[in-house]
Amino acid sequence: MNFLSAMAGINDGEFCKKFTKQGVDVITLGGFNLDLDTFKAGLENMGQDRKEFFTCPHHISEDIDEFIDTITDYNPSWKGKISVNLRASEAASYGVLYKNKQIDIFEINAHCRQKPMLEAGTGQALLTNTTLLEEMLEEVTTNSRKEVSVKIRANVENVDTLKIVELINSYNVDYLHVDAMNPGIDEADYDIINRISSNTDIHIIGNNSVTTREDYLKMIESGADSVSVARVALNGDINHIFQD
Ligand SMILES: Cc1cc2nc3c(=O)[nH]c(=O)nc-3n(C[C@H](O)[C@H](O)[C@H](O)COP(=O)(O)O)c2cc1C
Repeated sequence: MNFLSAMAGINDGEFCKKFTKQGVDVITLGGFNLDLDTFKAGLENMGQDRKEFFTCPHHISEDIDEFIDTITDYNPSWKGKISVNLRASEAASYGVLYKNKQIDIFEINAHCRQKPMLEAGTGQALLTNTTLLEEMLEEVTTNSRKEVSVKIRANVENVDTLKIVELINSYNVDYLHVDAMNPGIDEADYDIINRISSNTDIHIIGNNSVTTREDYLKMIESGADSVSVARVALNGDINHIFQD
């Protein structure tokens, strides 16, 4: 499957809808900040020139439904799925979206690394606070009635990626979304995708620096079941990556 990966402050209905005509099977909306701590962290991010969705947790459910309506109104024949990338500081926070029937996939964000997010205990901080990560996994896999994805970043200092994968593997998770970031290099770490795929049967979404059909095929050859893109979508055309 072909995924559009999260971009906070950018991936709303209006931005995403065109990709329903460019071979995208799963659109990721967000990332969204689900509770007060992550909302405040989002505000701090905005102060540092990062884009964010300025949606307070009380309105997030309605806003997401509006984004999805924009996509389905634009292309009613699209049969893809909607994923939402979610930042939370505690497990109970995910409950605010359980009633959103149009959401297919909850993506736990164990990936963002801006300082305010780490201080709020979310994003990449979950890779070191595995107790909280496990609470979140237990909560969403038990109570959300959605498919569950976990977005992780590879090659994080002091984090054993394969141990994290083993932990995630012990829950009823449907997708493992791996940003195979290669520190200092503008190419994905295809080797880590290979090693992860040898260690889990979870559906792997390979991500990072895929900008051509060749990169896409290399990701698949390395063991990814699906591929996602983010930055390359900013120019509005990803046909050449996802359509052969
Ligand atoms: C502006 C911007 C905002 C992003 N926001 C999020 C986010 O909220 N949640 C998340 O998991 N990843 C976020 N990402 C990371 C992307 O989803 C993706 O993992 C990363 O950019 C590497 O993929 P790429 O090389 O295809 O861009 C963001 C990336 C960009 C460029």
